[in-house]
Amino acid sequence: MLKKFCSIFLLFLWIVSLAACSPSQTEKNKKEIVIGFSQLGAESTWRKRNTKSILDAAKKNDIQVMYENAMQSQENQIKSIRSFISYQVDLIILSPIVETGWDTVLKEAKNAHIPVIILDREVNLSDNSLYTTHIGSNFKSQGIRAGQFLLNKFKDSSKQKLNIIEVLGTENSSPTIYRQQGFQEIISRDKRLQIVQEVSGDFITSKGAEIIRNLKNTLDLKNIDVIYSHNDDMTLGIVAELKKLNLVPGKDIVIVTTDAQTSIMEMLEKGTVNCVVECNPNSGDITMNVVKKILAGKRISKEIYMTETSFSEFSNLSKLPYRNY
Ligand code: AHR
Repeated sequence: MLKKFCSIFLLFLWIVSLAACSPSQTEKNKKEIVIGFSQLGAESTWRKRNTKSILDAAKKNDIQVMYENAMQSQENQIKSIRSFISYQVDLIILSPIVETGWDTVLKEAKNAHIPVIILDREVNLSDNSLYTTHIGSNFKSQGIRAGQFLLNKFKDSSKQKLNIIEVLGTENSSPTIYRQQGFQEIISRDKRLQIVQEVSGDFITSKGAEIIRNLKNTLDLKNIDVIYSHNDDMTLGIVAELKKLNLVPGKDIVIVTTDAQTSIMEMLEKGTVNCVVECNPNSGDITMNVVKKILAGKRISKEIYMTETSFSEFSNLSKLPYRNY
């Protein structure tokens, strides 16, 4: 009798231990999420922070990422998207270098039933159902903020004409298109504010410097009142070159820049730049929340804007916020 009881008890223990070792049904059903992320490049400090924000947030959420750096090439981005489709990822994040030229490949993603999030820059498509949502900045508002600072800065100036150089980012990219649009619309309210030169610096420090080196041969930079730079990295190059020419950035030439990375906020404190329009790269957490919602079949709004502001010589400079890049 005791022997029989012992063997039943041992059998019971074995069943219990088996149940403890094997994964529960819900765990088995919990499929790992795999996403493809095509980042346009690593041209700026902003971009590097943005990539890290996305990858860190994915890790925190146990989401696997197939990450591709396109090194400023739309062709590379298209190739990456096609490889994500053949891998049958659950979702694709595309941070597009330029606005147009995405219709065909995004149609392929749609036909494969893979949802697409457009991150940071925008796309211009014939059919907006080819992506689920865009998460990024309102670039036009950024341009408007830059222009508003100038209206304010020069409202009491006795100058008859204020000469501006606008240093644009990558051609045909949405930040370049809409920052320029917002800026030019708003400064048209003060006819003294005139853009005398528009030139692209591709969002890169070395090109910002090169622009000043070239312009000094065709323009008298002493007659320039303002430089509006579409990103901080180009501003670093611009400021360094102006100093070499014995021009004092922030005083001889008003500098308006975009992004708000730490090194530029320090320059604002010192008076080397006059206005910094924020572009927020920390979109990782928001994006991963959206990824989970889309994959759970929830409805998502078509446009999700990042929270952003601007800082200037009129701000309380002793209370500038901490920047994480
Ligand atoms: O698309 C956002 C812009 O691209 C940022 O202003 C710039 O720094 C980056 O390279």
